[in-house]
Amino acid sequence: MKYFLDSAKLEEIDYAYKSYAIDGVTTNPKHIMASGKPFLTAISDIAKWIKENHLEGMDKFPVSVEINPHLEKKEEMVKMAKEIAGLCPNFVIKIPCAPEGLKAALELEKAGVRTNVTLVFSASQAIQAGRIGAKFVSPFVGWKEASGEDTHQYMKQLCDIFKEKGYKTEIIVAALRSGKQIAEAAEMGADIVTCGLAVYEDSFKHPFTDYGLKVFCDAWDQTKGN
Ligand code: E4P
Repeated sequence: MKYFLDSAKLEEIDYAYKSYAIDGVTTNPKHIMASGKPFLTAISDIAKWIKENHLEGMDKFPVSVEINPHLEKKEEMVKMAKEIAGLCPNFVIKIPCAPEGLKAALELEKAGVRTNVTLVFSASQAIQAGRIGAKFVSPFVGWKEASGEDTHQYMKQLCDIFKEKGYKTEIIVAALRSGKQIAEAAEMGADIVTCGLAVYEDSFKHPFTDYGLKVFCDAWDQTKGN
């Protein structure tokens, strides 16, 4: 299962790539805002970083960039998506999973612009992304769980359907908040997870590991010298 970083902060992307070998990046307007840069500057800086690190190519290191969420018409979405895609070969265009967005995603995929159908909260939404051959589909598990909805069964249902139907679209289980959810996504057969750096770093820790290190340090100290 691949690990994508949910961030538009260049220093975080660089650190997570070099320290933890993350496989790609997902951004959204919230992450761009958190980067403190205007939209075009933030994504151009990511494109520059990709070049500097010799990561050009969508299959090497995909970066999802979302179109302006105010756009309501398919034509406007397609136009902006093509403009963003033209900036960097790694950019996959995030399109909201609503009727107009799905029409835009279909047209973009036909035109060779790869899409990530985002803001997905039900299996029926995800199925359409699979049917039209979107590169990625992003079910937001963390948001669903925060509203008290079941996510375990939801993840399983999506993964089972995509496997059964043979859709090529890769499932990015998104907005995860804990190591438990990461492990569950892997168990269900998700292709990719995406979450923030702090969630990954927390998932690499365990209190028993810290305890064990202390025990071993104490023992080590007894064996110093010859
Ligand atoms: C996924 O692609 C989204 O960018 C992301 O997971 C949104 O959720 P969050 O920012 O609330 O974690």
